[in-house]
Amino acid sequence: MSLNMKVEQMMNFHQFEIPTAIKHGIGAINYVGEEVKSLGVTKALLVTDPGIYEAGVTDPVVSSLKESGIDVVVFNKVEPNPPVRLVNEGSKKFKEEGCDGLVAVGGGSSMDTAKGIGVEASHEGSVLDYEAAEGKKPLENRIPPLTTIPTTAGTGSEVTQWAVITDEDREFKFNTGGPLIAAHLTIIDPKLHVSMPPHVTAMTGIDALAHAIECYTMKFAQPITDAVALMAMEYGAKYIRRAYADGEDLEARYGMAQAAMLAGLSYGSESAGAAHAMSQTLGGIIPVAHGQCVAAMMGPVMEFNWKGNPEKFARMAQAFGINTSDMTTEKAAKAAVNWMYDLVDDLDVPTLEEQGVPTDQNTRFAKEAMKDPQTVGNPRDLKEKDYVWIYDRCFNQKAKTL
Ligand SMILES: NC(=O)c1ccc[n+]([C@@H]2O[C@H](COP(=O)([O-])OP(=O)(O)OC[C@H]3O[C@@H](n4cnc5c(N)ncnc54)[C@H](O)[C@@H]3O)[C@@H](O)[C@H]2O)c1
Ligand SMILES: [Fe+2]
Repeated sequence: MSLNMKVEQMMNFHQFEIPTAIKHGIGAINYVGEEVKSLGVTKALLVTDPGIYEAGVTDPVVSSLKESGIDVVVFNKVEPNPPVRLVNEGSKKFKEEGCDGLVAVGGGSSMDTAKGIGVEASHEGSVLDYEAAEGKKPLENRIPPLTTIPTTAGTGSEVTQWAVITDEDREFKFNTGGPLIAAHLTIIDPKLHVSMPPHVTAMTGIDALAHAIECYTMKFAQPITDAVALMAMEYGAKYIRRAYADGEDLEARYGMAQAAMLAGLSYGSESAGAAHAMSQTLGGIIPVAHGQCVAAMMGPVMEFNWKGNPEKFARMAQAFGINTSDMTTEKAAKAAVNWMYDLVDDLDVPTLEEQGVPTDQNTRFAKEAMKDPQTVGNPRDLKEKDYVWIYDRCFNQKAKTL
């Protein structure tokens, strides 16, 4: 298969920067206290959501921090699609309590909230002032030492340079980011993933695969993001069904945690594509769960996109474990699309309609998706009518074999 990088792509000024130390392993959480201490933290704000806090998922983290002499202030109010007001509340607590470091334990919502709190702790004003958009202020200061401890294998926020925050007034999810906001350290322990219920495993796992798929096929992909994205797809494809069927399968949990982190390295450095443009803009309007919404969109998005880069879709089929040796490029590319439809079916992902998305607003949703910057790199050029077509397909699934 061709490596498929065009000369125009080689002429882009590509960058790959990762300011985050990545430490992982089954039982890695036992090292968190000493690791956070070595960052110079004496009083940490623990940022997490009430569900996992009450379920005791954060307990080993708190014990390890305390054993190493670190004071812990708990901020366990994280909500899905974290809003600006939550970040404001968290940074107020960080300052009032005199914290000097952040430890985020949870999924993307907790890790992004902690990044937002870090922005407000190190800059004047609100995180809203630092939206990655024209006319807004650039970030100038490194956030306080942040350790991310993911409890889902999904967003990859543990290693990305982005936080996704919801502006409730504008019904809009915005990004803030750059190397200054990335975690100083991530500790990835699949033991913390065992308590994830099957539906969370499914939606976050497909989200991780989606990051790799969208980044690998996008127009600005570069060799290093291709490398990590392909390995993320191999791990994800091999282990996602096992993690879904048996949450205590630690080998599968480890594989999925690697898939999410590797995918985060890929799209966190470049970008995703149509499914993320759609889900992010939809998530600002309707409180859909990010991963679940992406999962429901991936089949139709890939069905639309494969013609934009058949060679890379065919290469993806191999990463998914499909024997493509007797297939033409087109057939292998279509096999990758069908693989995703089957996966979404096997993992019982609810349709957008079942997720509460109204079926009569496709034009409005399409208009919003067009505004998202992730549209630009999508492997196939997108017009509003194309987004309408994809939304329409989302509402009129089930699996269509190409
Ligand atoms: N910063 C980034 O690079 C980036 C990238 C993609 C998405 N995001 C954002 O991340 C957010 C979504 O994050 P997410 O998909 O990880 O979901 P989440 O953090 O909202 O968590 C989903 C649910 O799973 C539960 N949960 C998490 N871990 C668990 C565990 N181990 N056991 C039991 N329950 C558990 C949580 O309590 C919550 O109810 C969205 O706001 C999305 O926009 C950020
Ligand atoms: Fe995502």
